[in-house]
Amino acid sequence: MSKVIITGGTGLIGHAIIKKLIAKGYEVVVLTRNPSQKFPPGLSNVILAKWIPSSGMIDHAVFEKADYVIHLAGAGVADKKWTAKRKKEIRDSRVQSSGLIVETLRKYSNNVKAVISASAIGWYGDADHTHLHGSRSGPFIETDPPANDFLGATCKAWEESILPVTEIGKRLVMLRIGIVLSPDGGALKEFINPLRFGMAAILGTGRQIISWIDIDDLANMYIAALEDENMQGVYNAVAPEPVSNKELVIQLARSRKRFYIPFKVPAFILKILFGEMSIEILKSADVSSRKMEEAGFKFKYPTIQDSLNKIAGKG
Ligand SMILES: NC(=O)c1ccc[n+]([C@@H]2O[C@H](COP(=O)([O-])OP(=O)(O)OC[C@H]3O[C@@H](n4cnc5c(N)ncnc54)[C@H](OP(=O)(O)O)[C@@H]3O)[C@@H](O)[C@H]2O)c1
Repeated sequence: MSKVIITGGTGLIGHAIIKKLIAKGYEVVVLTRNPSQKFPPGLSNVILAKWIPSSGMIDHAVFEKADYVIHLAGAGVADKKWTAKRKKEIRDSRVQSSGLIVETLRKYSNNVKAVISASAIGWYGDADHTHLHGSRSGPFIETDPPANDFLGATCKAWEESILPVTEIGKRLVMLRIGIVLSPDGGALKEFINPLRFGMAAILGTGRQIISWIDIDDLANMYIAALEDENMQGVYNAVAPEPVSNKELVIQLARSRKRFYIPFKVPAFILKILFGEMSIEILKSADVSSRKMEEAGFKFKYPTIQDSLNKIAGKG
């Protein structure tokens, strides 16, 4: 039985990946800052091991017989307002944890074959306000440079901090994840809440493009990246058909068969409410899934209707 270590395995994406790993017969060890927490039923045979990335503490013994590392850990990007302190935490939690993985794999004997790390489409800038594409038009692709903003710099530092695992002979895949759609939380719940009051909140102009990904497809991408030895480097983890913010909200209301009144939340209100983070809500990110498809990945939920209908059926 192959053994997978998963950092941040206690979170939204981690749970979805672990369910699939267990179903496929993998042994799973979660590296967490709080190993005394309870896992949901069905995930109870997961082993919890301790690490504290900010102080360099890690239970390195679990690496000895591990075959793969999935690295998801990091302070939530949209959980709190972006004060200087929070921004430092968002960046440091990713860079320090990656550094600790690199150091552990370097220092202690292990047979880890591959490291699959999270990154985010925050790497890319706002398609409406950037000339990053140069003369090329179309969606962002993996070779485009990082945005000149907080998330662009954070994603760059995050990817650079895990890159040294390749120097010690480990295959590395980095998935630049889009907005994850899940029945269990994440971004979608922010859109669902106003619908409960019959309101469909369209943010800014509503024309900004959202590159989303269904949680099941994302978890399958992690498994593919783990098992397919030909996969290496950066891949965008987004669905093939991004949608506008307005389209997402309308499709969501339809999938829930809700009567709704659409209303626009003006950009200036979002700026007051969310500060610098409003850039992420208002920015247009049309990101390509082509490289992932060319690697042979087949989407189960390629369109927004596919994903939202499945989620509505569950929720
Ligand atoms: N969800 C999305 O839409 C999305 C989109 C793009 C990228 N991503 C990235 O994918 C990764 C997983 O996302 P998710 O939605 O599953 O996140 P999540 O639910 O917030 O879980 C992240 C996990 O990271 C650990 N963590 C939190 N703060 C930390 C800190 N200061 N230091 C070390 N570890 C910390 C926590 O594990 P413990 O408390 O057990 O230590 C937590 O369970 C994140 O890095 C996220 O940025 C997510």
